[in-house]
Amino acid sequence: MPRLAPSILSADFGRLAQDLQMIEAAGAQVVHVDVMDGHFVPNITIGPVGAQAVSHNSALPLDVHLMISDPEKYLDAFIAAGAAWLTFHIEATDHAHRLAEHIKGAGVRAGVSINPGTPVSSLEAILKYVDYVLVMTVNPGFGGQSFIDGSLEKIAAVRDLIEIVNPAVEIEVDGGITTSNAAEVLAAGADTLVAGSAVFGADDPAGAVREFLDLF
Ligand code: DX5
Ligand code: ZN
Repeated sequence: MPRLAPSILSADFGRLAQDLQMIEAAGAQVVHVDVMDGHFVPNITIGPVGAQAVSHNSALPLDVHLMISDPEKYLDAFIAAGAAWLTFHIEATDHAHRLAEHIKGAGVRAGVSINPGTPVSSLEAILKYVDYVLVMTVNPGFGGQSFIDGSLEKIAAVRDLIEIVNPAVEIEVDGGITTSNAAEVLAAGADTLVAGSAVFGADDPAGAVREFLDLF
């Protein structure tokens, strides 16, 4: 069964607790938290304090997406903040295996993410050691961007590589996901869909969550 992970990047931070309760009540299975450092990506969001506030106000597993340089310096802070899933970018480290082992050693699901411009082949050596791959279908940094053409083929190529190297690995897809393209993203091989603006930018965010779930 696929999962929906609403991204709080597009939520109202002044009423985050209510927004978190709303997505949970509507049936979302995961809450996605985007961490940006103004260095790996051209935007700054929240750090461990913000992630902890999300964790304290939601019963959903906290899915922390680190879009930061030097991710190894901050893994423990986000684990302490309550991350149940923790993703680093393959482009941000020379030591992906060490990071994945560290995350899993803490009892947290380890994910590795690739940017749109990063080849699928860059995942080959790390797939044995992670629980999921986060395929970016926009250039990370901002919510509300359009799904990049050709991303369905890339997701399918990641799925093919997973089947060869480690079939237990799941795929999460992030960026430009809407109720219009969700079905084809799932068909290409996704297990978890991240949606920010398509949920929190909707007139009826709870209805948008339910609309996604109806497609699953
Ligand atoms: C983008 C973030 C995404 C973002 C998705 O850098 O990683 O998680 O919140 O937003 P939408 O769904 O609006 O593309
Ligand atoms: Zn994200």
